[in-house]
Amino acid sequence: MSNEKAVAVVTGAGRGIGRATAVRLAADGYLVVAADRDKATAEDTAAAVRAAGAAAESLELDVSDRTGVHEAFEGVRRRFGRIDAVVNNAMWIRYVPLVDVDEETVDGMLGVGLKAAIWTMQAAVPAMTAQGSGAIVNLSSPAAVRSVPGGAVYSAVKGGVSSLTLQAAGELGPLGIRVNAVLPGAVPTEGARSVVDPSGYELRKARTPVGRLGTPEDIANAIAFLCSPDAAFVNGHVLAADGGFQVT
Ligand SMILES: NC(=O)c1ccc[n+]([C@@H]2O[C@H](COP(=O)([O-])OP(=O)(O)OC[C@H]3O[C@@H](n4cnc5c(N)ncnc54)[C@H](O)[C@@H]3O)[C@@H](O)[C@H]2O)c1
Repeated sequence: MSNEKAVAVVTGAGRGIGRATAVRLAADGYLVVAADRDKATAEDTAAAVRAAGAAAESLELDVSDRTGVHEAFEGVRRRFGRIDAVVNNAMWIRYVPLVDVDEETVDGMLGVGLKAAIWTMQAAVPAMTAQGSGAIVNLSSPAAVRSVPGGAVYSAVKGGVSSLTLQAAGELGPLGIRVNAVLPGAVPTEGARSVVDPSGYELRKARTPVGRLGTPEDIANAIAFLCSPDAAFVNGHVLAADGGFQVT
């Protein structure tokens, strides 16, 4: 299939921030590959993009599977000829007190949250290197830099994502590939509401200087900026899109 558009792969695109990002990047003119381990929600996102007159395909993908990620990205490259942007958004989250953390929790969260970012970056490099350009955006979290009850593993994963972003920016920058991260404030998505209760959101809202919680679109806007030519000289940056939560 010949394709004139820039191509963006968004992981965890079936719902929440990933879905909003897929919709936004498609509106910006990308052909979006909406990847999620949940085939039905990925297809729902792609269908919504197409219904709005933009271009998207769904991709059933477990991002923690290294071989699967490499094969899927090679498939995207064969099919569309290029990969211009990758958004590492997928996450599986569980809050557990440190003393109770088991291997399933650690392995699961590291697999989806941190190892997957390594697999997708590896898998995108051949296409981006051939093009001499590419933008990768990883999703960090305020939990990387502040304590969250039960959030030890999540914090470790997201701290790792921020560090990985800086390292990858240095290593891939010479290839023309920019690597940045977005650090979202509190956005009450389905996934986030499974670990934060209404009183937790009241607390987060009260500590957010702009006086409200975030929306998936707030985060998608920041991601879209980092993918765009306007961010051509932005590399290795962790951009807080959090209404100022970080400064309180
Ligand atoms: N919502 C927030 O308040 C918030 C704050 C800080 C950071 N973040 C980060 O933003 C990102 C998106 O958060 P969200 O709240 O939209 O999450 P969410 O849980 O609502 O959505 C996550 C998506 O990832 C998919 N997914 C899970 N495991 C997968 C796997 N192995 N392979 C492929 N897809 C998989 C899920 O099916 C789901 O569609 C995450 O990285 C999260 O850590 C969110």
